[in-house]
Amino acid sequence: MNKKSHKIALVGCGRVAEHYIKILRKLKKVDFRVVAVCDVKKNRALDFSKKLGAKPYFNLKDMLKEIDVDLILILTPSGLHYEHSNLALDYKFNVLVEKPISLLVSDAKKLLKKAKKNKLFLFVAFQNRYNKAVVFLKKAIQKKQFGKIVSISVVLRWCRFQNYYSDEWHGTWKLDGGVVNQQAIHHVDALTYIFGPVKKISSFTSKRLNKLEAEDTCVSIMELKNGALCTFEATTAARPKDFEASITVVGERGMAKIGGIGLNKIDDWEMINKKKDVKKLKRMNSENFENGYGISHMKIIPLFLKKIENKKRDYNSVNQSISTLKLIHSIYASSEKSRVVKYLSNINSRKLGR
Ligand SMILES: NC(=O)c1ccc[n+]([C@@H]2O[C@H](COP(=O)([O-])OP(=O)(O)OC[C@H]3O[C@@H](n4cnc5c(N)ncnc54)[C@H](O)[C@@H]3O)[C@@H](O)[C@H]2O)c1
Repeated sequence: MNKKSHKIALVGCGRVAEHYIKILRKLKKVDFRVVAVCDVKKNRALDFSKKLGAKPYFNLKDMLKEIDVDLILILTPSGLHYEHSNLALDYKFNVLVEKPISLLVSDAKKLLKKAKKNKLFLFVAFQNRYNKAVVFLKKAIQKKQFGKIVSISVVLRWCRFQNYYSDEWHGTWKLDGGVVNQQAIHHVDALTYIFGPVKKISSFTSKRLNKLEAEDTCVSIMELKNGALCTFEATTAARPKDFEASITVVGERGMAKIGGIGLNKIDDWEMINKKKDVKKLKRMNSENFENGYGISHMKIIPLFLKKIENKKRDYNSVNQSISTLKLIHSIYASSEKSRVVKYLSNINSRKLGR
């Protein structure tokens, strides 16, 4: 990265924004300044403004009218991502929006269309795709090292107590969804990112322990386009703490499991033809994460800033996130209709985002 100083603004000064600030401060090679911050909760905007030496705003439109920046970070509740990204694109700003891009597939497509039309950059943060363990497994699958894929198991057993759902948005259909669209979205994303498209889905959702509009638990069975069968189990009702978030693959020539707290470690790697030093392989392709956010925002932010600097526009992260959003809708739709649904039928949940 050369010495160009990037000006950044952010909207939404909550938990994930704290993580962004921590990450940005560690990026020694990227010269950036957060020049403006916005939150409807004045104390939060003022707090961030003090920490960063940035101008505070309490209304997004007011900020967009005044600022001149290279990139806007959209870090607001999921159900507001469309509205906020759309407005930022209207004001001709490049946008990096946290996952999910939007709650409705139709809205995500509108954002993509607008960004393309206005020749603007639009990125979606699915940072776990850049974890060493995910990259390593994806490459091995691409090189067909596992041979024919027999089955895949996706497991997320995390603990969120009732107080997590007591704010204005978590667990609501209008602004969030449940464990599938909030916590397990990274794993749904990794599933299709690594193994390719899903063909059929059968899902059950339930509120087992927490009180929320959406679900705290979901179990699905899927068939992938490549024929592999997949079980998917996600819950925020694990007690007393986060246990596991993993993907296991069973193939003709071996099996592997990636886990850790955010798909950051290779837990198992067994092949019929053991040519590699497995201990070394695990060490080289695992990373330590302090928390579920992980460290890969440190990889995507410089990457996206570099693309802007070099005027290299692509919409890869947007297209992938739309595929993931469609799969999320199919998982919900199957549970709502109590039947198997086909992923390719562009089926939509009657509840998510409504
Ligand atoms: N990539 C990841 O691993 C990861 C992890 C956590 C959260 N997220 C995503 O980040 C987003 C934010 O999550 P969070 O945990 O930080 O939530 P949060 O509730 O802690 O923060 C959201 C902030 O947005 C503010 N806000 C709400 N409406 C606004 C508006 N109209 N204008 C300006 N500010 C507004 C709120 O006041 C709040 O401060 C969510 O979409 C979530 O899915 C991603």
